[in-house]
Amino acid sequence: MAATKTYLTGIQTSGMPHIGNYIGAIKPALEAAGDNDTLYFLADYHSLNSVKDPDKLRHDIRSVAATWLACGLDPERTTIYRQSSIPEVFELTTVLTTVTAKGLMNRAHAYKAARDRNEAAGNADLDAGVNMGLFNYPILMAADILVMEAHVVPVGRDQAQHIEYAADIAKSFNHLYGDSYSFPIPQGSFPEGEASILPGIDGRKMSKSYDNHIPIFLPENKLKKLVRRIPTDSTPVEDPKDPDTSVPFQLLSQFADKERTAETRKRLEAGGMGWGELKNDLFEVLNATFGPMRERYDELVAPGSELDDILEAGAARARERSRATLAKVRAAVGMD
Ligand code: TRP
Repeated sequence: MAATKTYLTGIQTSGMPHIGNYIGAIKPALEAAGDNDTLYFLADYHSLNSVKDPDKLRHDIRSVAATWLACGLDPERTTIYRQSSIPEVFELTTVLTTVTAKGLMNRAHAYKAARDRNEAAGNADLDAGVNMGLFNYPILMAADILVMEAHVVPVGRDQAQHIEYAADIAKSFNHLYGDSYSFPIPQGSFPEGEASILPGIDGRKMSKSYDNHIPIFLPENKLKKLVRRIPTDSTPVEDPKDPDTSVPFQLLSQFADKERTAETRKRLEAGGMGWGELKNDLFEVLNATFGPMRERYDELVAPGSELDDILEAGAARARERSRATLAKVRAAVGMD
């Protein structure tokens, strides 16, 4: 029997995910989890770099955890925990800093982008606004992965460099201490194609930073209003319309079943279906998809819900692994 592989992924805790995150990340991750040994964690210390409001941080962590659980993450079959519950992550981070070249960090995309922005703004100090948390971000991420001895890390393409760095850092450690202990070298697993990129309500890629997103668990009346706001042209109801350039149609096709999508396409192309009707249909389909999950989300996100127990149980399981790894790492470097 092939040895089972450990899958691990970190989830940023930056507010309620939107329906583009659902199609692009949450749904495929839950499907891929299958029977693998899978760990999901909330990267709350990574978020601390940018979120300096304790109430917001607290709420975001709950909201993101409740979203994944409401969308179907089964805490019996997968391990879900908060990064901040695992002290070994931070101990390992310190060890890893001692085998990581500063030059490697200088070349990290996020850090370089911050310097480029300063340069473009004519700022003499290229490091202005850069904190050490941002600079060290890739090492903390390597520790997240290596402390659980993960083999496969499912992430978006934008994270490819971070996974390469984790592999490089693991190799540096293994090179020095491999006689005693070696980390498995982690590999990224990336979504294929562009199919999973959803348009936002303005037609650009759906993204919080464009403020064109549809949050997953918007209350029904707000969801309806937001869908109504999607801009459409003034083609009269009776005229034929092109589904492939229509944002409401593209969104509908991601959530409606095949028959309904095909039927809608036909009616738009033939003429006789107005944008208003299309948007009503879109609202209906979104509400049918997320309505039941929204109820579960509301229960979990409420203070004092079972969410706390779920995250604590996950952390307890994750810590068995992280403690075992740290014991080996400490012995290997001579700290036993
Ligand atoms: N940097 C990842 C992101 O922005 C989140 C993350 C933190 C992560 N630690 C991780 C992902 C470890 C995978 C493995 O999405």
